[in-house]
Amino acid sequence: MTIQKKTVAVFGGTGNQGSAVVRSLLLNKQNTFDVRVITRDINSSIAKDLLSLGAKTVCADARDHDQLAAAFTGAWAAFINSNSDHHGADDELHLPNVFDFDTAVLKAAKAMGVAHVIYSSGANVYRATKGRVSLAGFDCKSYAEEYARSEEMFDTFTAVLPASFMECWTAEPFCETWGGFPLLPKENGELLLAVPPYGGDGRMPWVSVQDDFGDIVHGILLDPVRYDKKRVQAISSLIRFEDLAHAFTRGMYLFKAIEHPLILRSATGTLVKFQPLSSWADVPQDGSDLRRECSLMFFYMEFCGGRWFAEYPSDDTAARECKEAAARARGCLETNPIAFEDWFKRNFKGHISSQK
Ligand SMILES: NC(=O)c1ccc[n+]([C@@H]2O[C@H](COP(=O)([O-])OP(=O)(O)OC[C@H]3O[C@@H](n4cnc5c(N)ncnc54)[C@H](OP(=O)(O)O)[C@@H]3O)[C@@H](O)[C@H]2O)c1
Repeated sequence: MTIQKKTVAVFGGTGNQGSAVVRSLLLNKQNTFDVRVITRDINSSIAKDLLSLGAKTVCADARDHDQLAAAFTGAWAAFINSNSDHHGADDELHLPNVFDFDTAVLKAAKAMGVAHVIYSSGANVYRATKGRVSLAGFDCKSYAEEYARSEEMFDTFTAVLPASFMECWTAEPFCETWGGFPLLPKENGELLLAVPPYGGDGRMPWVSVQDDFGDIVHGILLDPVRYDKKRVQAISSLIRFEDLAHAFTRGMYLFKAIEHPLILRSATGTLVKFQPLSSWADVPQDGSDLRRECSLMFFYMEFCGGRWFAEYPSDDTAARECKEAAARARGCLETNPIAFEDWFKRNFKGHISSQK
C-alpha cells in the first residue's frame, strides 16, 4: 500500500528558520512529508541546495496573490516565516508592512484550503510594556498571529515563538555590542561579556536554529491537533549570562574553570570576563538600529520580569517534547536540544585555537 505523503509548503523556506524546517522534514525516516520551498528565486544557491536534498521549489512573491495561491495549492500544511527586522522608514509608513505581508500570506493559505498552519510569531512588546516600547519586528508578527487566531482560518493553527538565535554569537556586530564575546578578544586576549540585567531569575531563552528550530516545527507537524491554538516557544537552552561564559570556557577547553567572582580563567590563559552592566541604558550606542534595539530589548525583558517572550514566562516544555518526537522521526539517538557548551565547541573551536 502506498502511503499518501503530506505536502508542507514552507514560506520563507530559503531563510534561516524556514531552511531549518525544510532540512528537518526531509530527514523524516517515514518519508511522511513532501516539502515545498516557496521563494522569490528558485535559482539561488540555497534554493538549489534544498532542491538537491529532495525539496520542491516554487517561485512566489508575497506581493503577488496569484503566485502565492499557486504556491499553496494542494498543501496539507504550511510553515510561514518572514523577516520583520527591516521595517520601513517614516516616509514609507504608507507602504505595506510586515503585518500586511504576513496576513496576505495567511489569507492565501486559507484560500487554498491549507488545513494546518504554523506561524513564526513574535512577542507583543508594545502591550507588555504598556505602550513604553514598540519593536515593530515583533509587534507586527504578534498582530498577524492574533488576526489568524481571531478569524479561525485553519483546522489547526500554532504560533511558534523563536527564542534569541544562538547563531547571533557568530555575527561580529552583535558580539561587539556585548563587549566582543565570544568572537572578538581584546588585545590582551581577554574576552569580555558585558550585558545589562535580564530580570527575573536571569535565565534567557536561546534557540539553535540549525540544530533545533527545524525539529521543533517538525514535531508540531507530527501532531498538529495536539498543538492547535498553542504558542510553542522554540527554546534550546535557558541560561544566565554568567553561565553562558562558563559554557563557552568549558566548551573550548574541556576543563573545570577556576572561578573568581566574575572572571573565568581558562587553562590556556584566555579570560572570559563577565561584566554586568547596571542598566539597559548602558548598552554602548553607535547610532545603529541594532544597538538601539538591543538596549530596548533589555529594557522590555527586565521590565517584564525576565521575559524574552514579554507577556509570557519562558517555558521549554513543548519545545523539548517536539524536539524529541522529531529527533525520533529522524532516527536520531540524541533527542535533547543542544546545550550551549556543545554549540560553542562546534562553532568556535577552530576560531579560538587559531588565535593562540
Ligand atoms: N535573530 C534572532 O535572534 C531572532 C529571534 C527571534 C525571532 N527573530 C525573527 O526572525 C525573523 C527572521 O527570520 P529568518 O532569519 O529565518 O529570516 P531570513 O533568513 O531573512 O528569511 C526570510 C525569508 O523570507 C523570504 N521572503 C522575503 N521577502 C519575501 C517576499 N516578498 N516574498 C516571498 N518570500 C519572501 C525569503 O525568501 P527569498 O529571498 O528566497 O525569496 C527568505 O526565505 C525576523 O522577523 C526576526 O524578528 C529573530
